[in-house]
Amino acid sequence: MSAHQTFEHDVIVIGAGGAGLRAAIAAAAGGAKVGLVCKSLLGKAHTVMAEGGVAAALSNADDRDSWKVHFADTMRGGQYLNSWRMAELHAKEAPDRVRELEAWGALLDRTKDGRINQRNFGGHKYPRLAHVGDRTGLEMIRTLQDHGIHQGIDVHMEVTVTKLLVDGGRCVGAFAYDRERGRFKVFKAKAVVLATGGIGRAYLITSNSWEYSGDGHSLAYHAGAELVDMEFVQFHPTGMVWPPSVRGILVTEGVRGEGGVLKNSEGRRFMFDDIPPLYQGQTADSPEEGWRYVIGDKSARRPPELLTRDHVARKIVKEVKEGRGSPHGGVFLDIAWIKQHIKDSEAHIKKKLPSMYHQFKELAGIDITKEPMEVGPTTHYVMGGIRVDADSQMSTTVKGLFAAGECGGGLHGANRLGGNSLSDLLVFGKRAGEYAATFANSNGQVKIGDDQIALAEKEALAPLERDAGADVGPFRLQYELQQLMQDKAGISREEKELTEALEGIQKFKARAAVMGAGGSREYNPGWHTALDLHNLLTVSEAVALAARERKESRGAHARGDYQAKDAEWGKYNLVIKKARDGSMEIRKEPISAVRQDLQDIIKEQG
Ligand code: FUM
Repeated sequence: MSAHQTFEHDVIVIGAGGAGLRAAIAAAAGGAKVGLVCKSLLGKAHTVMAEGGVAAALSNADDRDSWKVHFADTMRGGQYLNSWRMAELHAKEAPDRVRELEAWGALLDRTKDGRINQRNFGGHKYPRLAHVGDRTGLEMIRTLQDHGIHQGIDVHMEVTVTKLLVDGGRCVGAFAYDRERGRFKVFKAKAVVLATGGIGRAYLITSNSWEYSGDGHSLAYHAGAELVDMEFVQFHPTGMVWPPSVRGILVTEGVRGEGGVLKNSEGRRFMFDDIPPLYQGQTADSPEEGWRYVIGDKSARRPPELLTRDHVARKIVKEVKEGRGSPHGGVFLDIAWIKQHIKDSEAHIKKKLPSMYHQFKELAGIDITKEPMEVGPTTHYVMGGIRVDADSQMSTTVKGLFAAGECGGGLHGANRLGGNSLSDLLVFGKRAGEYAATFANSNGQVKIGDDQIALAEKEALAPLERDAGADVGPFRLQYELQQLMQDKAGISREEKELTEALEGIQKFKARAAVMGAGGSREYNPGWHTALDLHNLLTVSEAVALAARERKESRGAHARGDYQAKDAEWGKYNLVIKKARDGSMEIRKEPISAVRQDLQDIIKEQG
């Protein structure tokens, strides 16, 4: 074994975005000695890129809102594949988590009478997103970080975990390296919380930051955890499409929440064309009614631009495919038109959407207060994740391993509503941290065998010991994988393409297994990418396998060869589980019946 540093904590939290910070704060409050491990610098996790807001039924902008409506909206948006218990806890606890953030110093936008303001977002019946202009994630991270640093948490920055350490079915720590010098670190812990975010970097066009290489999903899977719902990858309808260097960057749904409309090259609002059965009778009949909804007229119904993301994204793709797209392969998103209704619309747009104004001005030379934006779908979120117990967030199969935020599965079902991820990570980050501390308090010290550490070291060093000239190198292979996933497992999928994706992934795995990274352990992004590839290949396989298995279209999973929703498939989730030979396999798992009182709420809400 080469030299490594050992750290001992009661709880280690891997990932320092919103879920990780909230979990670390809760675990420290529970009396645990906490270590927080982050792949980048503290304060730079992907949550800072969250824009539009955090969903919570505070009922400030519309007093008809309540946790019950939020619960029903979340279940409908997820096409009833959600873990109903998680959806219940989330809707009930989100308001307290937002108020708590405010008490810790978050400066949220206000209503005229001084309460937290809330904006409209797709799939939410009432204005529900608490926000800070379009920089909500940044304020959230700033607040959690400011609060967290006073809780005695040890922070390990620019450290990547490559393997979870398991002893007798219990997670007992993690093996990692520091990204600067490549020195190894062993974290011994009584409980481990994964909060590593998503998998967007498995695709070419994504709104996700570089850290989103599916680390938590893959670490957990290889440690024996189950993954659930992996076929459901969310393509946010509005990413930038031009210029090419910024393709995929998020254009917040807040633009549509503030009245932005989608138009095709003929200038027509194509979203009025087909309203999905789930939302018939709930959608505006005319642009005028849609605008009245935006400005808070309680008798009006939502404009069709505020339907769920799965539907809006597919409608955009249809316009482009049928030749009615914008010059660079998207459609037009127009907020400037509100000048017809608002006197000083320029100042209004800059106040409500400051980042969008700057983003388009600086990156595309577009003034959104005067001109429409060009937008198209971008890989944004994975609904699938580590299968956990709803209350505690502990893995269903690995004791002492917890997951929160995007890497945890269950809450969102087939499609997540915008804003529900920031509330997810607050609600379940807190729960994961609390339960992890309780687990650590009641389970004794752990043992980590030298053989486990030696194996983890050997695996981490392997790319440096292989011939760097034998293949194209890790960056190029990562690109080829992203291209494959974009083409064959993207917004619309078919059996043949998914089989090709799986065959391609097998070939990439074989190449990655013999590929060298070149260079040494110090300051070596090629080595980091080679190690990330292991995770990207794991999650890509899980997505393609689950997508091929689900022979219907539901939520974010659209099959060209099975275009209808099939009631039979509505009874199951797909769970990925490792077979004895180490290959991935799928299991169909019946969904437990929704508790009667919650069924009544769903019925009441229509
Ligand atoms: O459009 C947005 O601002 C994204 C929000 C979300 O994904 O929750």
